Amino acid sequence: MFIVVLHGPNLNLLGSRQPDLYGTTTLAELNEDLKRIANDLDVRLHLEQHNSEGALIDAIHAAGSADAILINPAAYTHTSIALRDALLAIDKPTWSVHLTEPKTREPFRHTDLIEDLCIGRTAGFGVGSYTQALRKLVIWLQTRAKKPHL
Ligand code: DQA
Repeated sequence: MFIVVLHGPNLNLLGSRQPDLYGTTTLAELNEDLKRIANDLDVRLHLEQHNSEGALIDAIHAAGSADAILINPAAYTHTSIALRDALLAIDKPTWSVHLTEPKTREPFRHTDLIEDLCIGRTAGFGVGSYTQALRKLVIWLQTRAKKPHL
């Protein structure tokens, strides 16, 4: 099983960026946690972070050999039709993740342009959103492999 993990803009600053909101774990530490979990679950991970919309879209296009995508599009969640179109174009099972719950924050964060395309969404658990989402995504893929009609 091969999963591509994509982190959107400003997530390179995780750990120092608004720590009261996003926590003190760095992106490198989060990625290490995800790799450890993936290793335990016998899953191969590829992880990327991009600040620009185009680079994120290129990374989605390049995820052709993945079984699924785990993505935190960060602010592009609320604005990017292009990112939505890229996910539609590659048509891979996608799980969206957020450290905070954008739907309980400012109204402009309530719009989520990809949630209806996603097989799941985990938000509001800090870095735990990612670890929970990865575990759930793997269970989803395993279940589908055993029951291809699902
Ligand atoms: C975020 C929520 C977004 O609204 C925000 O723009 C981010 C991070 C989150 O993980 O909680 O950059 O995606």
